[in-house]
Amino acid sequence: KFYIETYGCAMNFSDTEIIASVLNNAGFSSTDDFTGADLILINTCSIRDNAEQKVRKRLTDFRVLKKANPGKLIGVLGCMAERLKSKFLDEEKIVDLVVGPDAYRDLPKLIASADEGEKGVNVLLSREETYADISPVRLNSNGVSAFISITRGCNNMCSFCVVPFTRGRERSREAHSIVAEAKHLFNQGYREVTLLGQNVDSYLWKNEEGDKQVNFAQLLEMVALVNPMLRVRFSTSHPKDLTDDVLFAIIKHHNICNHIHLPVQSGSSSVLERMNRTYDRDWYMERINRIKELIPDCGISTDMIIGFCGEKEEDHLQTVSMMEYVKYNLAYVYKYSERPGTYAAKQFADNVSEEIKSRRLSEIVDLQRRMQQEENIKEVGKEFEVLAEGFSKRSDEFLSGRNSQSKMVIFPKMNFKKGDYVNVRIVSITSATLIGEVIN
Ligand code: SAH
Ligand code: SF4
Ligand code: F3S
Repeated sequence: KFYIETYGCAMNFSDTEIIASVLNNAGFSSTDDFTGADLILINTCSIRDNAEQKVRKRLTDFRVLKKANPGKLIGVLGCMAERLKSKFLDEEKIVDLVVGPDAYRDLPKLIASADEGEKGVNVLLSREETYADISPVRLNSNGVSAFISITRGCNNMCSFCVVPFTRGRERSREAHSIVAEAKHLFNQGYREVTLLGQNVDSYLWKNEEGDKQVNFAQLLEMVALVNPMLRVRFSTSHPKDLTDDVLFAIIKHHNICNHIHLPVQSGSSSVLERMNRTYDRDWYMERINRIKELIPDCGISTDMIIGFCGEKEEDHLQTVSMMEYVKYNLAYVYKYSERPGTYAAKQFADNVSEEIKSRRLSEIVDLQRRMQQEENIKEVGKEFEVLAEGFSKRSDEFLSGRNSQSKMVIFPKMNFKKGDYVNVRIVSITSATLIGEVIN
């Protein structure tokens, strides 16, 4: 029996479904209770120091179990395994397996040798691996929405980011295997897929002969055509690569959701340059203007890094003004965390004090909260199609789901069930959710 715990981004959660499939095929079954498992796996994230600290802390919980039951195997998978490689075995004595993101097919073999007492390490990165033929096991699914990985790795070199080191070169998965997976999900009752990649807009698949290719806008349309009742979402878009063709695909197909996650990272051109994001403030604003012109009701969300090397007060104010300009649906805001081996770690001093980082972070978070509230109030009276994803957290008399723009909506259950599309009129709001009444 194996138990697996996942940290980090959606890509990692999607990988866990691949891992589960590999292990099922090798005769393992999954359990939700780590104390009863023979094999304990932790799929890890390295994006910020605190992500790694969380994993270290969790390993101390497993240490107690391992002491009492030395026969149990403990494996570290994912980005932290890739970053630390076999050093992990020296640092954490209880670990038996260290397996990077491109080596999951090798798990059964590594487990077998670990069972014989030999520690198993495979952290080879691949230029080809996309796990296209592996049918993910949807472990913790709500049965309505699912992730589909379309690319792996990343070819950008944002100076702060560890991902190119932990996940290797970018590669695109064969288009027809993506469409087939979407069809399969729809037939099983799923009503929403999210196409995943570190930079989905750079998706480009070519056939072996090299006479056919599919870009991201084309792939979106292929998936949208699977069924009009299947919602299509995607993440993450990169401002330098988001094309008008993607926007046209969104307009053309009702089931491609009107939501774009377009991380800005900073509103200041000089910070963006040091980040090596390869766009500046004006470029980003032009992309926003184009989205708003073509898809006026498009939800836009972002990631931001606060206190990057050399960030001055005037840079911070530029980030504030960018937020006021765009009016994001949602913003994930992080303090800069220096990652060993990155360009920024080698070339720039992490010279914004912890105190200033914290102050700027809370200014941004407060501003976002205020603006989100103001924007949500404007939704009262509007009507949306909501895909019911399950019961609301507070009560079984209510269902919750998202509108096309990805805003959470809660509404009376009546005779609806998860997986239904429900037309809802918004009647009030709480801090982060819209509350609606059913109109069909
Ligand atoms: N591929 C996506 C982001 C992947 S990582 C993109 O390009 O937008 C998710 C987010 O983590 C990033 O958008 C960034 O805001 C944040 N992040 C990445 N490295 C970081 C670091 N060293 N410190 C703090 N936040 C970081
Ligand atoms: Fe990291 Fe930049 Fe790639 Fe995103 S695009 S994963 S931030 S290197
Ligand atoms: Fe973390 Fe790796 Fe994702 S570093 S954010 S799990 S790609």
